[in-house]
Amino acid sequence: MMILNINGKDHDVDVDPDTPLLWVLRENVGLTGTKYGCGIAQCGACTVHVDGVATRSCSFTVSGAVGTKVVTIEGLAQNGALHKVQQAWIDNDVPQCGYCQSGQIMAAVELLNNNPKPTDADIDQQMTNICRCGTFQQIRAAIHAAAKA
Ligand code: FES
Ligand code: FES
Repeated sequence: MMILNINGKDHDVDVDPDTPLLWVLRENVGLTGTKYGCGIAQCGACTVHVDGVATRSCSFTVSGAVGTKVVTIEGLAQNGALHKVQQAWIDNDVPQCGYCQSGQIMAAVELLNNNPKPTDADIDQQMTNICRCGTFQQIRAAIHAAAKA
């Protein structure tokens, strides 16, 4: 049995310690906002925060998350208020199919936590998540909007 702290709540999970964190979030804990894309740490659809660090949960073992604070897309809004990055995503009509967007938002939140006023070049360098729908221009605009919020 392992205890995982996810979005501020402890969860007991009984899985093989080598199970990817993404599987546990979706299958055991029922948090399906985090998506499976490639399974090999390339696309970023599965991005969550582990102790504040954007982490590709398809390639991160659940045992590595024990003793940390995991935050998923479901944990960003606080007291009924959207995170400013979520609000900027809505205001800038970022999502198309939406599949990649929870991972994009988690990556953008970490970017802004580390660099509150990023330049276009900072965004291009650090937002490595893939969007098949090609929303990169809207993502960039939303990150600038969130930086000003
Ligand atoms: S599903 Fe994890 S990076 Fe693609
Ligand atoms: S919005 Fe469709 S993959 Fe990004």
